[in-house]
Amino acid sequence: MKAIKIEGGKTLSGSIRVSGAKNSAVALIPAAILASDKVTICNVPDITDTDALAEILTFLGAKVNRASESIVIDPTSIENKEIPSEISKKLRASYYFMGALLGKYKKVSMYFPGGCSIGKRPINLHLKGFESLGAKVTIEKDKYLVEADELKGCPIYLDIASVGATINIMLAAVLAKGETIIDNAAKEPEIVNVATFLNSMGARITGAGTSKIRIKGVPKLNGCFHEVIPDRIEAGTYAIIGALCGSYLKIDNVIPKHLESLLLKLEEMGVDSEVGEDYIVLNKPSSYKAVSIKTMVYPGFPTDLQQPFTVLLTQAKGTSSVEETIFENRFMHVPYLNKMGANIVTVGNKASIKGPTPLVGCEVEATDLRAGAALVIAALIAEGETIITNVEHILRGYEEIVEKLTNVGAKIEIIEID
Ligand code: EPU
Repeated sequence: MKAIKIEGGKTLSGSIRVSGAKNSAVALIPAAILASDKVTICNVPDITDTDALAEILTFLGAKVNRASESIVIDPTSIENKEIPSEISKKLRASYYFMGALLGKYKKVSMYFPGGCSIGKRPINLHLKGFESLGAKVTIEKDKYLVEADELKGCPIYLDIASVGATINIMLAAVLAKGETIIDNAAKEPEIVNVATFLNSMGARITGAGTSKIRIKGVPKLNGCFHEVIPDRIEAGTYAIIGALCGSYLKIDNVIPKHLESLLLKLEEMGVDSEVGEDYIVLNKPSSYKAVSIKTMVYPGFPTDLQQPFTVLLTQAKGTSSVEETIFENRFMHVPYLNKMGANIVTVGNKASIKGPTPLVGCEVEATDLRAGAALVIAALIAEGETIITNVEHILRGYEEIVEKLTNVGAKIEIIEID
């Protein structure tokens, strides 16, 4: 079994280059099957989630060529087959094949998706959107069958501004007849990246990045060339690391606007950062002020940075608080941080953190991707050695995390344990 071993207490300097955004890439790869020609996507992160999606494409019969940071997908020989549950359950984003296959073939049979157990994560809004477009949804045990004679554009209101539902409905609607309007759409940068990709293929989508997205159906989509945006959550994770152990730690290939809520909180805590056009430089201050955060949809404080940020709050003077409003089970890192010496009390979706508390290395378990990132951060500031197990979760979402941290002075390695 793989584990990550970290010897804490090192000062980190130098530069970390941020990879392409996981949550964009995992939608762009399934979206490529809507094209009737070859698609090239650049800046694709080399993580196990993108590997699993490439495996699904290959299973469906697409020609997939991965070289360095790009992926070339030729979807012309795809067959609309049922994706085996062993692959689709490897990750959450396999559900984007529902929208894409439904959009292209008007029929899809898919097993329930996998992904981090950070809440119940129903997909009722995705299915409601497909039904509004004219599809019939049948649920059989752990499988969905979605089919339509014809998909027709229509107005769709999302009860929750869901990232997944917004993207999946866009995928199903691009080739539908007439106009679809998604109201209360999610506004995350990844949605804009997917809409731009579809538009380069010939789709007619306007309003992505606002709460009203209009999609005028087109009969066919072409191949195109596209680039994944930088990963704002990976960038934010390294920015938090810089705030805790940086001495001129530069985070490169960043869109600072995507990180505004985090940067403002860092400033409120007294962290010294320099923000350039496409980089951020962080230095560890002598002390941190306690603050409160509440996770919100974009541009609010991202739920994906809540767990990493909680580690920073353990070092702040006074009582900080965290309110998680997006997922109901995103505090699984807390018992491990407390085991390392933190003083965190959770009640429902709120956590209260008293600090500063020194952290001490020990054996901890990554229960999900961002909990794993939080434990890496905690280990970097802890005294002594930390062993993190279940690292598969971390490797699903952080490209070359061990190499990137080693290059700036961290003592971190992947080891094999029984
Ligand atoms: N929800 C419903 N019904 C639905 C869809 C969502 O009730 O049909 C609820 C969810 O249960 C949740 C809330 O709405 O409570 C928001 O969920 P959303 O659909 O926005 O999230 P998601 O699409 O499942 C994506 C990212 C997550 C990220 C969230 C929020 C991908 C593959 N995943 O998930 O990323 O936390 O948006 O920004 O894009 C991660 O990277 O660690 C991660 C979990």
